[in-house]
Amino acid sequence: MKIAAIVGSIRKDSYNRKLAEHVKNRYQDRFETEVLTLNGLPMYNQDIENDPPEAVRVFKDKVKAADAILWVTPEYNGTVPGVLVNAIDWMSRVDKVLVGKPSLIMGATPGLLGTVKAQLHLRDILFAPGVSSPIMTANDVYVGSVHEKMDAEGKLTHEPTIQFIDTVVNNFLAWIAK
Ligand code: FNR
Repeated sequence: MKIAAIVGSIRKDSYNRKLAEHVKNRYQDRFETEVLTLNGLPMYNQDIENDPPEAVRVFKDKVKAADAILWVTPEYNGTVPGVLVNAIDWMSRVDKVLVGKPSLIMGATPGLLGTVKAQLHLRDILFAPGVSSPIMTANDVYVGSVHEKMDAEGKLTHEPTIQFIDTVVNNFLAWIAK
């Protein structure tokens, strides 16, 4: 079982990337997680969607090869960051690599509300016909005040959050199996 973790931040010290790394490391005996970066993806352009740049081709192939998608994204101005929407636009066209892939969403922010608005918007986007990715309900992972929940090296240390993510990941695996 292979999960593609798509991180909606290209920031070097991204908390969201660190959260994706937590998933990769903690469950490495149960499934393989590849943390994908959006760094280097050009802006989507319909003129070139049938013959896209190499970076797009490689990215889409990795998503295509995955059994499920983990979205780990910040919230920018109350919604989904542009880099993530751009990646979804590429993925939603031609070979439509997200269609039918089960999705789990997580988000981290130093703010209190844990990216709740971005996640609501992302859920809506995932319903689009070119995306059509089934999302598990009732297992939302909102990591607010993330700077207080990771140590100086960016390791998630907040035990209640770790336990909660364990529960959600177990639920996600059971849901996929069904
Ligand atoms: C933010 N940030 C932010 N946080 C939040 O909780 N809600 C928001 O609407 C926004 N808006 C926003 C806009 C822009 C342009 C920036 C740069 C930042 C703060 C954001 O959560 C913080 O920078 C995170 O650290 C970004 O995630 P990564 O890069 O650490 O993964």
